[in-house]
Order: sequence, then C-alpha cells, then structure tokens
Amino acid sequence: MKADLVIKNIGKLATMRSKNTPVVGKDMNNVEILEDAYVAIKDGIFIEIGIGENYKNIVNFNTEINDAQGLLVTPGLIDSHTHLVHGGSRENEFSKKISGIPYIEILKEGGGILSTVKSTKEHSDEELYSKAIKSLDRMLELGVTTVESKSGYGLEIDTEIKQLKVAHQLNKTHPVDLVHTFLGAHAIPIEYKNNSKKYIDILINEMMPKIKELELAEFCDVFCEEGVFSIEESELILSKAKEMGFKLKIHADEIESLGGAELSAKLKCISADHLMAASEEGIDMMAKNKVIANLLPATSFNLNKPYANARKMIDSNLGIALSSDYNPGSCPSENLQFVMQLGCLGLKMTPYEVLNAVTINAAYAIDRQNEIGSIEIGKKADLVVFDAPNIEYLMYHFGINHTKQVYKNGNLVVDDKVILSKI
Ligand code: NIG
Ligand code: FE
Repeated sequence: MKADLVIKNIGKLATMRSKNTPVVGKDMNNVEILEDAYVAIKDGIFIEIGIGENYKNIVNFNTEINDAQGLLVTPGLIDSHTHLVHGGSRENEFSKKISGIPYIEILKEGGGILSTVKSTKEHSDEELYSKAIKSLDRMLELGVTTVESKSGYGLEIDTEIKQLKVAHQLNKTHPVDLVHTFLGAHAIPIEYKNNSKKYIDILINEMMPKIKELELAEFCDVFCEEGVFSIEESELILSKAKEMGFKLKIHADEIESLGGAELSAKLKCISADHLMAASEEGIDMMAKNKVIANLLPATSFNLNKPYANARKMIDSNLGIALSSDYNPGSCPSENLQFVMQLGCLGLKMTPYEVLNAVTINAAYAIDRQNEIGSIEIGKKADLVVFDAPNIEYLMYHFGINHTKQVYKNGNLVVDDKVILSKI
C-alpha cells in the first residue's frame, strides 16, 4: 500500500499514543516524542509513523510529500465541551458581572442563559448557522479539528431541534467534526419558573424521545447546580436518558458543591464537566468509575472563580480533559490554546499533562478514542503543525495563535493561519 501524503521533517512528533485507556496519574506527564519523524497517510488515515527517510518504500510517483520544516506536530486538538450554536451575545451583562453580581443572580433575574434562549428563538436557522460557522472557523484556525456542541438555548422542542440541526449542517459543510449533545436541561424556562416538575416531565416524556427518534444527539447533559437542576432532578433526567440510549454528560459542581461529581460516578457518565467545587470524595468516586473530569479553566478565569483542583484529581488517577466551554455567558471565547495556557497557569498542570488533556483524554470525553486523539496507525489523519520548537513553548508564550498548518482527514485545511477550503 502506497501513501497519498507523507509529512516529513517533523522536528518533534507528539504522538499521544496511550494504552487503550485514558491517561491518568503520573502518566499524564509523559508524552512520546519522536524526533526527525514522518507520518504517512492514505485515504485520510495514518498508515505509517517513522523516523528520518524511512518513508521511501511507502511512496510512489503520486505521493505528495510535505515538509514540516523541523517544527512541532501534535494530533488535531479536541474541544470536548462547547455551546457552539446560539443566538446573540451578552456584552450587556458584562459590566454587571465585573461589578461582582453573581452569574446565578443574573440568571435568576431572567438574564444569563434565559436571555440567550430568547435570542436563539428569535434567530433563523441561517442566522444561527452563519454565527456558528465563524466560531468554528476560529477554532479550526487555532488547531481544533473536533468539537462537541450542545443545544440548551431553546428549552422547548422546536428551538432545541433548530439548534441541533444547525450543528448537523455544520458537520456536513465544515472540515471540523462535530459531536452532538442534547442539553434541554440547561435552565428552567420562564414559563415553568414555579413548576420545574412540569418542565422535567416534558423533557423526559416529550423532548428526549423526539431528539432520540430524530437521531439528533448522541449525548444528554444536565446543568446540575443550586437553583437550576437539583441532584435528584439531574439523576432522574440522566437515568431516563440512559434508558433511551443516550451517553451521559453532566455540568457538575461548577459553583456549589452539590454532589454532582458523586452523581456522575453513580450513573457512570462519560464525563463530568466544570468540577470547580467538587468534593474530594466525589473525585475519588469518579476515578473508581472511570468518569473523565472535563475541566474548563477559561470559565473560572472569566467568572473570576477558583480553578478546579486538578492536582488532587491527577493524584487520584482521574483522567482529565480540558475544553473551552465556549458560550455567550461564562466563556465568550473559542480559544482552546488560551485554555491550554490556563491549564498550566490556573490549574497548575504541566504542559505535557495539558497536551494529554486536549488530545487523547478529550477523545475519551466524547467517546471517540478509537478514531482520534493520537497519531497512530488506523486513526484519522488530523494533525497540527505548530510554529513552536517544543510543547512547553505553546503554553509559555500565551495569548497568540501558534498554529502554522492544520490537516483534517489528511487534507491541508489551514496554511499560515488561513483556512484553505470548507470541505
Ligand atoms: O457551561 N453552566 C452552564 N452552562 C454554561 C453557561 C451557559 C451560559 O451562560 O449561557 C457553562 O458555563
Ligand atoms: Fe457548559
């Protein structure tokens, strides 16, 4: 078998190969780095990884050979928690927020998530699509090749479907791959303010079966938080979702320590996300049940809240992923490279731990570990050439885009920071 493409002269190739499990504990600080390496690709899949000029017997006249100019190459980055598709923005709440009015207080006054629900309802599919595609372009330019995308700004069936359909359309037209999550349990709609039981009933008996029937989402998620969905309500929603065949995620212990981490362990969620206020017991229970801790340090940064206890999580052998949480309220930024920098500066993770968290462990957080997250034979040829000499440099030199080139399924899609094609 001959390659379609060889990328040679890779100064440092961070393969992020793992042993068929999420990377945990001390192993998070290990990265396999091959020097003077090449990768060979056929039909969008890696078929060989090697050193120096050894690619000679896998090429023929038709093989394209690209030179990585001695730079750093990693797998395509994975953003495993975003609220990509939504209408409008919330800069009108920005001054309130910096004056110290709490996030949940703004939500209780009908702002926050509920104000984005209003604008998402008012925007057409086309408007939502053209806003989201701009964000997806930004993500791709930054080296992100797979994105998880949640609904949750409809809180009634038609708008939830509209959001999910826009995400499916983006998945068809844009090089970035999307993974779809239903987050109907993102807030209690204003109409049910004093009757949350009724909304939960509609969610379970009408909305979730419809989303499942239309095959619009693979995951179901809940915002489990004081004043939003309680532990009991979250357990009810997620266990029904599991019965219907959804994989589970949970926004857990973001602001208050409610026991969301413990619940994620009990229900064996694929990931529990945020965890800024997770208890030590909850962390240990998650580790035992192999739930991925999906940490979102740019949200701590933006809400001016404490960072999650990543060091305790690593000591407890909990697999950590990092993602942006891109949304118009608690994290209006698509920048996963900034998240990586905050992984070091805020969460006190090492650069190698951070790279594991946005590649192979992030693949586990969206159940795509067999296809993406590392550079190994048989996986999708998604990779980033960074204009950087080593991994540490990516986190050390903060606030800029380090990407030189991005390949998606073996196609060069970003060159010198410019997107080349939409397919
Ligand atoms: O993950 N915490 C709940 N949901 C989002 C925020 C959504 C919003 O404020 O619009 C989050 O932070
Ligand atoms: Fe979120």
